[in-house]
Amino acid sequence: MMGGLKTKAGKTLMFRNIFSAVLVASASLVVGAQSSAVSYDEATKVFRLDGGNVTYTFGVNARGELQQLYWGGRLGATDPIPQAVPAREWASFDSSYTNTPQEYAGWGSGLFVEPALKVTFSDGNRDLVLHYDSEKTIPDGFNIVLKDVKRQVFVTLHYLIDPGSGIVARSATIENREAQPITIEQAAAAAWALPAAHYTLNYLTGRWAGEWTLTQEPLRPGERVIESRRGSTSHQANPWFAIQSGDHPDENSGEVWFGALAWSGSWRITVERDQLDAIRVTGGFNPFDFGYVLQPGQSLESPVFYGGYSAHGLGGASRLLHHFELAHILPHRMGEGEAAAPKPRPVIYNSWEATEFDVSEEGQMALAEKAAALGIDRFVMDDGWFGQRKDDHAGLGDWYVNSQKFPHGLKPLIDRVHALGMDFGLWVEPEMVNPDSDLYRKHPDWVLNFPGRPRSELRNQLVLNLARSDVRDYILAFLDKLVTENDIAFLKWDYNRNWSEPGWDQLPPDEQKKVYVEFTRNLYAVLAELKKRHPKLEIESCSGGGGRVDLGILQYADEVWPSDNTDPFDRLTQQDGFTYAYTPQVMMAWVTDSPHDLEGQRRVTSLPYRMLSSMQGSLGIGANIAKWNDEEMATAKRLIAAYHQVQATIVQGDLYRLISPRNGSEFSATQTVNRDKSQSVVFAFIHSTQEGRGYPLLKLQGLDPKANYALTPIEGAAEKGTPATASGAWWMNHGFNMSGRFKGDFLAAAFRLDKK
Ligand code: DGJ
Repeated sequence: MMGGLKTKAGKTLMFRNIFSAVLVASASLVVGAQSSAVSYDEATKVFRLDGGNVTYTFGVNARGELQQLYWGGRLGATDPIPQAVPAREWASFDSSYTNTPQEYAGWGSGLFVEPALKVTFSDGNRDLVLHYDSEKTIPDGFNIVLKDVKRQVFVTLHYLIDPGSGIVARSATIENREAQPITIEQAAAAAWALPAAHYTLNYLTGRWAGEWTLTQEPLRPGERVIESRRGSTSHQANPWFAIQSGDHPDENSGEVWFGALAWSGSWRITVERDQLDAIRVTGGFNPFDFGYVLQPGQSLESPVFYGGYSAHGLGGASRLLHHFELAHILPHRMGEGEAAAPKPRPVIYNSWEATEFDVSEEGQMALAEKAAALGIDRFVMDDGWFGQRKDDHAGLGDWYVNSQKFPHGLKPLIDRVHALGMDFGLWVEPEMVNPDSDLYRKHPDWVLNFPGRPRSELRNQLVLNLARSDVRDYILAFLDKLVTENDIAFLKWDYNRNWSEPGWDQLPPDEQKKVYVEFTRNLYAVLAELKKRHPKLEIESCSGGGGRVDLGILQYADEVWPSDNTDPFDRLTQQDGFTYAYTPQVMMAWVTDSPHDLEGQRRVTSLPYRMLSSMQGSLGIGANIAKWNDEEMATAKRLIAAYHQVQATIVQGDLYRLISPRNGSEFSATQTVNRDKSQSVVFAFIHSTQEGRGYPLLKLQGLDPKANYALTPIEGAAEKGTPATASGAWWMNHGFNMSGRFKGDFLAAAFRLDKK
């Protein structure tokens, strides 16, 4: 039993202190059991974390290894947790060391699964076996120290459980107390384990303009590597996974274990079905081309790897994650505890697709007039306003206002935008430089490069080595000046290429690979300092679309740009994929012109269809509204007003994916329900009706069965005879049909339900 129980009070506060930069929020949110407990049984050496509907336990086995015991639905408070027993040896080939699901295994002693940590000592020894050393129980978690069996290498494992969602935050600090340097070749934030069974793996993949594809496959023997070697998060894969019990993914039921790595540099998550069919998920810095030298006395901190559990399918998992992000990750939160959340995002206008680089004071003012007439909250001027920027060949790095385009600086435009009742946002791409720029001519050594080797350009630009302190100081200084001298509420922070030639020749050769860590740390440091100096400043993380979206950047970024693909039909599937990992609050979605030219793809869609596709996230308008006629203006104005009324429910409520748009689906539908279940919003889309089929019956979810709700169309209509008001039970069990006229190509409808 739980002898030596050491449960601490005040855990919620501790969790927030560690993972929240700012505590500031609003609505009431009820997730799970809303309580947590952490306990350590000294007799059995069992550690236990309880939060929400989750219990996570691990213990020290007889050899001294830290071994995972259980991760799943919350156990009874007094239930016994048997102490850790190492797995048995499998003949003479798989040692007990490799078969035991260790919390953080060093590479040594014949380990054949992924190690959490692999090092080389200065004498050539590469054997590392980590044993339990000591523990410290802290509010909501533990700090557990492991030590190599022979040498002075210490690893502190940090654990924190969120009382609301039961999501566990894990990270590791590796410390060299040897007299000689050591080189870290592989360092994870955490390893998660599940017992042998049938599972389905879910992860997100893609490419530029094609991000957020949900890939679902049976978890087969071997290793599935999800990673970025690109220096940043990447469009190609996103640091999120979900493993579902059984052979098929299920949106509404079944056990799901999920995780998200908070790191915006090169990263790797491996999902292994090991030699005995048990599952191990290991994630952290990408070991490819990695090498971090720790001098005596130095330490390396890993990113945080968040892990959660839901018994309610993939939908339940993403709802937990969304609430967690709102309450614990995003900046500018207001309110307390699990109810904390940022305000819904301003509805923005962005000039990029209207003008591209051809920005001017007059042109932007004309767009601002029309944006204000639509009811837009924020006007954002995109690329083209600085240096000698006429196209993408020049100017990056020279962050002064282009005097031909803006002869009087930015002030007249910003003043006009304010007078029209909007705030002002500006595009920047701080980490990049064009060779055709004053900055590069002055500091050619500031870019990532290997001396004497070609410097590969992409979009005619090179990457500044932000790991350097002079580059970091330059970037911080110009951003600070820009925001101090101009009344700027928002920066769209872009990043339009991945790394090549990642050299850092200021450092000795064996230390240069530190660039993979220090670049990202300096990025976070610049963002943190900028926000400290300008506490109201809001930031969007953009990387040619969704190339830098992760829980690391989201501690600083209020929103993200999910994709440069603004085709409203493509966006339905992208948004569906995106929301498995990230809350719709941060999912910016612009309405752009039709036909929209994406690499030659020109699809014609109606304005209501485009509006409703974007209204599933945080709405923006990115069309050339200078050309919009009265009817288009009226339609957009009406729908923006309707959106403003229900926005909080859409972006911060519980999301139910009623019909998936994936796999060539003819239809798709989503529903969100706000926290107190007083409002719900439903979106329904048709790709193209086949054989005259009617829209599937929409059975809603998540409502209060006993409350009455009135159904009001935002766009489109329900079938004649649908009650104007009915109980939650009626909407969920009986469901409703769309109007018989809801047939054709690229059609959309939306409804709100309000509790009476
Ligand atoms: C890529 C972004 O994703 C676009 O929205 C736009 O800002 C361009 N960069 C500007 O160069």
